[in-house]
Amino acid sequence: MAEAMIAGILGKGKFPHSQIIVTNRNNQQRLRKLNTKYGVIAIKREQLNFEEIDILILVTKPKDIEDVLHFLKTKLKPHVLILSAVAGITTSWLEQNMPLGQQVIRIMPNTSSLIGESATAMSPGKNTREQAIFRGKELLSKMGSVYLIEEDKMDIFTGIAGSGPAYFYFLMEQIEKAGNEGGLDIQTVREISAQTMLGAAKMVLQHMESPARLREKVTSPNGTTAAGLAALEKYGGGMAIFQAIRGAAFRSKEISTELQKNKFIR
Ligand SMILES: NC(=O)c1ccc[n+]([C@@H]2O[C@H](COP(=O)([O-])OP(=O)(O)OC[C@H]3O[C@@H](n4cnc5c(N)ncnc54)[C@H](OP(=O)(O)O)[C@@H]3O)[C@@H](O)[C@H]2O)c1
Repeated sequence: MAEAMIAGILGKGKFPHSQIIVTNRNNQQRLRKLNTKYGVIAIKREQLNFEEIDILILVTKPKDIEDVLHFLKTKLKPHVLILSAVAGITTSWLEQNMPLGQQVIRIMPNTSSLIGESATAMSPGKNTREQAIFRGKELLSKMGSVYLIEEDKMDIFTGIAGSGPAYFYFLMEQIEKAGNEGGLDIQTVREISAQTMLGAAKMVLQHMESPARLREKVTSPNGTTAAGLAALEKYGGGMAIFQAIRGAAFRSKEISTELQKNKFIR
């Protein structure tokens, strides 16, 4: 996820490579690769100079967050704004465990950050001031669109946008199968389905009409689209998508609860 964020931030060419510093726990090879590929500064975490850091983005697995906070304890400076993409870790937990009344923002990007097309949520903590929210949003908007949401909506946001790319990939897999069966080669049908999805997405974003209205407009009675939609209904397509989002949101909440019950964090 961190690599996707780096690529997104650098993507539009307006952010200097030398202002991004990456570190990790101990994988030196990975740091060298990021340095070579993106021109960012990649150093051991012991070499970080916190005086020079404005925004610190945490992108570890939840189980590693305690170690991160232990490491930061004696080094963090009060001016450093924390953006945390760590799943399930709440702003209030971070605030309680940061030594200096830190300003924190919980974020939920997705992997389309890689190409600057993420839908990213941000929820500021209670200590976080307007100016910090502005700075955070400015940075995140280099990776795509940013949505300021209340933290209790983070689970449903995760179900829609965090996990969302996978649903669309799955859908495209099914389209590829059908297209291939109908005689198109995989590469051609892949491009056709991606372009069709992109066109539909842009119609919603640019025309600001509801998907229901757009669907009605392209559906003639007894036509091909009506036949396709009828099959979608018959085989539970609509409900399947609805339940996928609910399931992912439920799992997101469950992970948060498990964390709070001290399974991963004390
Ligand atoms: N993938 C997604 O679509 C997505 C979307 C939104 C949010 N997220 C969240 O992003 C987080 C990271 O996910 P991921 O799949 O990118 O994980 P990952 O590939 O395992 O990467 C985790 C990184 O954290 C580093 N790390 C671990 N402990 C550390 C420590 N104590 N100090 C410094 N660095 C440390 C690791 O370094 P080493 O390799 O050296 O151990 C590694 O570079 C998760 O909480 C995930 O839920 C993911």
